[in-house]
Amino acid sequence: PSAALDLKDAILQLKKEKNAVILAHNYQTGDIQDLADYVGDSLGLAYKAKETDADVICFCGVHFMAETAKIVNPSKTVVLPDKDAGCSLEESCPGPELEAFLEANKEKNYYVIAYINCSAHVKALCDVICTSGNAIRIVDRAPKDRPILFVPDANLGAWVMEKTGRKMDLWKGSCYVHVEFTRDSINRIKKEHPDAVVVAHPECTQAVRLLADEVCSTERMVTYCKEVDAQNIIVVTESGMLHRLQKEVPNKNLIPGPTDKCACADCRFMKMNTLEKLHDCLANLSPQVELPEDIRSRAEAPLLRMLEQSK
Ligand code: 13P
Ligand code: SF4
Repeated sequence: PSAALDLKDAILQLKKEKNAVILAHNYQTGDIQDLADYVGDSLGLAYKAKETDADVICFCGVHFMAETAKIVNPSKTVVLPDKDAGCSLEESCPGPELEAFLEANKEKNYYVIAYINCSAHVKALCDVICTSGNAIRIVDRAPKDRPILFVPDANLGAWVMEKTGRKMDLWKGSCYVHVEFTRDSINRIKKEHPDAVVVAHPECTQAVRLLADEVCSTERMVTYCKEVDAQNIIVVTESGMLHRLQKEVPNKNLIPGPTDKCACADCRFMKMNTLEKLHDCLANLSPQVELPEDIRSRAEAPLLRMLEQSK
């Protein structure tokens, strides 16, 4: 325990020396969340990254999140504990593939909406970005006279179509973590806790979303769990969320949603970050996010449009 304390102290010391801010996603391990200056969802983190006056942004999440911070803050140093922390959604939509698709379907004049879980190259190809926290609002505001292409998450896209009544063409990407929850696995846990309510992330399949009392972003889950008139809540998303919720809603019984194989679901990319790697990235200011300026500036416009439209 004293070595862990030393490591935490060393991280806080380095943070001061480098004038750094530590931003962490709700899926990070508890020890990282507890050290961070701000813990939140993709939308909250994008706002924090845009607003900060620190010289260094240390982003504890996955690569596309750190990249987003760099896109809106080109003059700042953005570091991340592990540069290989990717995302299956980002992988499912390579920039060159989307570029070729848009070229082949030029006559459609698609309005392209990209879920923030994608590379800077994909962001640079689209009209506006959204997160799970603002997707309904962003799709509602899309031009009515153009077809919409939604990339890369087909499950989130299908949920937004149900909510807005807007028809969209969907890229066939998915989050490998959230598709592991099944109707059977959620029904099983519901049977064990018959009076529990269910909150699920919109990256889950429709079969799972249909069993949920509320479908929302990770940050909105905090408000929902605080406000809902229920003592037992089944939380159908990545396991890191339980740490955040237990701190914010200590008086309720929060039950992780199981998959067919496991009692809860971990994102292997989110869990690549450790306190040791966090310490080293602050000490060495490496690995850093670096981006070609033409891609960065093209990716910035749709991100700023999102921040503007979701106020
Ligand atoms: P949120 O924006 O809801 O936190 O979701 C991010 C994510 O990666 C979900 O898998
Ligand atoms: Fe990507 Fe899914 Fe991990 Fe979120 S939980 S970072 S969407 S792989």
